[in-house]
Amino acid sequence: MADGTAKRMMQQREPRRIVSGATFDEDARIDLSVRPKRLDEYIGQKRVKENVQIAIDAARSRNEALDHVLLYGPPGLGKTTLAQIIANELNVPIKTSSGPLLERKGDLTAILTALEKKEVFFLDEIHRLQPAVEEVLYPAMEDFRVDLIIGQGPGARIHPFPLSHFTLVGATTRAGLITAPLRSRFGIVHRLDFYEPADLLIILHRSAKILNIEMDEGGAEEIAGRCRGTPRIANRLLRRSRDFAEVRAAGRITRAVAQEALQMLGVDEKGLDEVDRNLMLALLDKYGGGPVGLGTLSAALAEEEDAIEEMYEPYLMQIGMIDRTPRGRVATPRAYEYFGRDLPKRQPRLF
Ligand code: ADE
Repeated sequence: MADGTAKRMMQQREPRRIVSGATFDEDARIDLSVRPKRLDEYIGQKRVKENVQIAIDAARSRNEALDHVLLYGPPGLGKTTLAQIIANELNVPIKTSSGPLLERKGDLTAILTALEKKEVFFLDEIHRLQPAVEEVLYPAMEDFRVDLIIGQGPGARIHPFPLSHFTLVGATTRAGLITAPLRSRFGIVHRLDFYEPADLLIILHRSAKILNIEMDEGGAEEIAGRCRGTPRIANRLLRRSRDFAEVRAAGRITRAVAQEALQMLGVDEKGLDEVDRNLMLALLDKYGGGPVGLGTLSAALAEEEDAIEEMYEPYLMQIGMIDRTPRGRVATPRAYEYFGRDLPKRQPRLF
């Protein structure tokens, strides 16, 4: 039997993981090591932080479970980190899973019935739950109960099963896809925004210190300016700049070193990478600046529609390069200027 086949069979025999416990590569391990563990180490997102702090203090003083929390916003802004911090601040354990992992009602029921009092259950990509699985969450969140069905066919009986008073922390990159009944069951709802450059500088210096990386202010500014307002990207660019500094420079990240390292990675001055650029160039050159539908862009770029909507467009919209209109995506005058294209004489009609 070929090696690969044997390996695949081994993998198939392993039980499906519906709760966290994956193995990590080196980058992921480093990423974990720089994540803040307490709320006072968490930089930025001031309004969210203050509100979460008050809710935590109140829950603690009443000795109750924290109300369910929904965190939404683009990837890499710290939703998972915040969920972990909430558990740390409450001094309770945390279990983690994700919408697409929970294929059957039983998968979710098994997790819910094992939760301890006040425990945090972090459910990532909550917008991707199957409808039948999502329905299990309703009585669980509202009445701390799951309805077990005992038996089959006409003789089946519903058996209410009490749960511990837990806290669900749901996270999603797509708040618009959360159903109304689910959303209404969260008492605390917060949107995480892209980070300000000043906050990214603090995060970068903090990570560099933890990882023992030598970096001057110019190096930090260069990375902060090209990380799309996203700490996860800032930390990744920091690690790649360090690699570059160790191999090509004297181990110290200066502005020039960061510029060269990031240029080699294909990250431009605004933090746009190759996919962003291909997206913008397709929109500008192939589709005359738009409007063009998401499906068409997705086919032209060979990128999933979800990836375009969740990972690429939010930042392109934030920096004013692209607009979403009812008739499709449109390049803005700023995009024409940035990519050195002449503005068309007549602007495309937006509506
Ligand atoms: N690392 C990643 N996100 C962070 C944040 N918000 N504050 C501090 N360090 C971080």
